[in-house]
Parts: sequence; C-alpha cells; structure tokens
Amino acid sequence: MSSAWWRSAVVYEVYVPSFADGNGDGLGDLPGVLSRLEYLRRLGVDALWLTPFYSSPLVDGGYDIADHRAVDPAFGTLNDIDQLVRKLNEAGMRLILDLVANHSSSAHPWFQAALRAGPGSAERQRYIFRPGRGATGELPPNDWESVFGGPAWTRVPDGEWYLHLFDRAQPDFAWTSPQVHADFERTLRFWLDRGVNGFRVDVAHGMVKQDGLPDAGFANQIQLLGRGSLPYFDQDGVHEILRSWRRILDEYPGDRVAIGEVWASSPARLANYVAPDELHQVFNFYFMDAAAPVAFRRVIDRTIGLAAQLSAPATWTLGSHDTHRTVTRYGGGLLGVRRARAAALLMLALPGAVHLHQGEELGLGDVDLPDSALRDPMWTRSNHTVRGRDAGRVPLPWSGTSPPYGFSAVGAAPPWLPQPRSWSGSTVEAQDGDPQSTLELYRSALSVRRRVDPMAPLRWLPSDEDVLLFARDPGLVCAVNLSTVPIDLSQYGKPTVTSDPTGGGGGVLDPETAAWWAT
Ligand code: NOJ
Repeated sequence: MSSAWWRSAVVYEVYVPSFADGNGDGLGDLPGVLSRLEYLRRLGVDALWLTPFYSSPLVDGGYDIADHRAVDPAFGTLNDIDQLVRKLNEAGMRLILDLVANHSSSAHPWFQAALRAGPGSAERQRYIFRPGRGATGELPPNDWESVFGGPAWTRVPDGEWYLHLFDRAQPDFAWTSPQVHADFERTLRFWLDRGVNGFRVDVAHGMVKQDGLPDAGFANQIQLLGRGSLPYFDQDGVHEILRSWRRILDEYPGDRVAIGEVWASSPARLANYVAPDELHQVFNFYFMDAAAPVAFRRVIDRTIGLAAQLSAPATWTLGSHDTHRTVTRYGGGLLGVRRARAAALLMLALPGAVHLHQGEELGLGDVDLPDSALRDPMWTRSNHTVRGRDAGRVPLPWSGTSPPYGFSAVGAAPPWLPQPRSWSGSTVEAQDGDPQSTLELYRSALSVRRRVDPMAPLRWLPSDEDVLLFARDPGLVCAVNLSTVPIDLSQYGKPTVTSDPTGGGGGVLDPETAAWWAT
C-alpha cells in the first residue's frame, strides 16, 4: 500500500471568517491565517483546509460564491494564497481549498445573466429553472426542501422557479450543462497551477439530480441526510463528475487530493465515493455520532473494514463548522471538556487520516449567542426555529483576558460573532505551556502520533465492555475508560499521554479519561 501523505495526514480546518482577523474589520481573513502559521506548525498538523475565501456576498459564510477564481477583498488577495502555499510548503505543511460546485451565489454573473435572459434562454441552462405547478404556475415544480429549511425553490418575477438546495442566494448549477463542467475544470486547474495540494469537495453528493426531478413524496426530507435516499442527493451521475476531477488532479505532481463532504444513505453508499479513480477520502461523520462504547467499537471496526476493502485510509473527525462543538455534544461544561479530551486521544490513536476543526484543540464549546447575533441562514429560513451553526463558529480566542482576545487588534471592529467573557482561560496564550491544558494535550498527542507507524494496524485488547483498549503495533496502546469506575492499567506503566488533567497517576485510568502508552 502506498504511503502517500494524505493517508495518515492530520488536516486542520480553518474556518476563515473565524480564525484570525488581519485587517481589523472583525472578520477573519488570509493575512490572519498567514500571521498564525507558526501556531499551526507547532500544533503539529500536516495540512490546512481553508473554507471559502472567494468573492462572495457572504450569505452562507462564503459558501455562496460569486467568482470561484477570485479572492474576496474582505478575505485578502491572490498574493496571500501564493504566500500561504509557499510558507506552508517551507514548513512542511500542505494547503487544501474548498471546492463548492453544487451551487453558486445568486450574485454570480451567470445567475444574474440567467435572470435577465428569461425563460428558454441559453443562460438559464446553467442553473435549474422550471415552470411552476398549479393553474398559474404558482406552486413550486416539486416538493424538494432546502437543507436550510423551507422549499428548495424560489420564484422569479417572470414566473419561473429556480432550485436552491441551500439558501435562496445559492442557486444550484445544472450539471447537465457542458459550460458548467468546463468552468469547474478551469477552476480546478487555476488553483492547482498555483500549487495548492487539493480540495475539500463541498456537497460532493449533490451535483446531479434525479432525472425528471420527481417529488420526494414526504416532508422533513433533511432528516434523511446520511440515512436515506433523496432524489437530489447521491445520484449515480455524481461519480462521473468526481472521476473527471480525479483525472485532473492526477495530471499534477505531488499527490493532489480530493476529500469529499458526502452525505449518503449508508456507509456502503458512502464508500462508493472513495476509489483510485475518484475521491481520495471522505469525512467520517458516523464517528462523530458515536457516544456509547458499543457504538464507538462498531463505527471503528466498520470504518477500518471498509477502508481495507477500498485500499483507502480510514478517516476520523469529531466536528466541523457545521456541527455543534464536541465539548457541547458531550454534555458541555467541565464534563464535556473531559469527554472531548478523551475522545481526542481516541481519535488521534486510530489508523488513517484525521480532520480537526479549529478550536477543538482549545477545548472550546458552543457559545450561547443572543438571537440578534445569529447569522446562519438556517435561522431565518426555519422561521427562527433552528438556531443554526453559529454557536460553533465564534472567532477563536488567541490572547488577552477580554474580547476580541487577539482575534483582531485592539480597537478593531468587534468580531462578527460575539465572543463570551468566559473565554479568558481558553486563549492560546493562557493554555500555552500549561501541561494540563487541552492545547498542550493536542500538541503532545500529535507529536507522539507522528512517531507511530501510520501503517500499524489496530488490534483490540481484552477489556471490560465499557473500556476501549487497543494497540497499534508497533507504536502505542490506547485506553479509553467510558465506565463509571476507575480502571487499573498499571501493567502498562506510566502513560505517555493522558487526557486526565491531574495526570492519571499510578496507572489508574479514571472514568471519562483516555491514555496512551508508547510501545
Ligand atoms: C457544506 C458546508 O460545510 C456548509 O457550511 C455549507 O452551508 C453547505 N455545504 C452549502 O455549501
């Protein structure tokens, strides 16, 4: 099996609007990322995935793109990207960009042209326009629902409707149009020519819709994401598009990669996306959902089993800018932090690639934001019933004891989402050098992980049902105590890394903690 870098890489998600603000407008940007490269190098990650920084009205944090080959001035310049590529490469790290091909922004010149040109025009063929149903076309063409809530169709003044599986400001491209194909090939090459190491493919399961756009036939369709079949997701035709992109990636030297954000109806359907002529890997959202020992064991075994069948690396993630933060999912407060630290050690001990979400290394939880601060289109599209994803997207705390915590310079515009007063102990500065901090836990774990043979398989060791105990031979033994009583593991000696901030003395592993022993 090849030892290509991406097979065991730790990829760190930089949610650009919330990472670091270089120009003082309260919104994170590329100069901000450039100013924090030393932090990322010291953390010990292999690659950065940057969320969109392209020209955008920022209705959906930049996932509404008006020009896929331009940097939005709010985020920086093309020169910043060139510098990032160069500096990351010098530091032995790689750069992965977001490729958002299911939809554009409604501000995209093609969509604006489509609106102007009217029904039946060539301009409308690049998006999905249809007449409505009902006597006067007053009803949407079908019953599809937007992932963000409400119908997936919006009517334009001339009476036609257009499809948007996300916000109305994100019209879906028609991948039946050769022009759409050609334009994305150009986009891929544009960034690959600049030296980026690959793409995280947004909604990789979405570009192709079922022929004839049939009704789904039921409501609350989004609850089926990752669980059931929908006529607008995971259609077989998407594979052809992904394969055409893989051919392009493979033309370039240096192992350029495609990592898919894929929601399919089952692990087996998800596995269809990973192949030597298709995506290199997909995010493992099933791992994120596990909480009980049985569920962890099942998802770990299933992931590793599928990966072996596909000759692909397993992947692991505990969250992203679309999910609640791990600390909150695991119960919040000190208990949430304790469990999240244990989960981090579990994840980082597993074979394969890891996808981290910025801020998890600081032990951050979701922030309780006031209604007035919410910016996620889910909030408005759900008629204020779904708060959306902002709580996990609050700008990172770097230093100091009050907002903006070094995210922006003092005196800059306030961060685009308000940071809580309670974060003064969570800043990078406060955690740096403190052996009990979550930041130092991640640093130690990432450095030990680097010394484990990436090819070392996982071997379960005999243990109580509520304890996950396994070896990676040669490399380490990992134990996670999910029971309610301490476990004596003194036969392994003193742990090399432990999630227990009190140090887990004497080889006894307390409940809700994890430890590693180097072997
Ligand atoms: C997935 C992205 O991660 C999410 O943030 C975005 O809203 C949707 N795709 C639409 O692009």
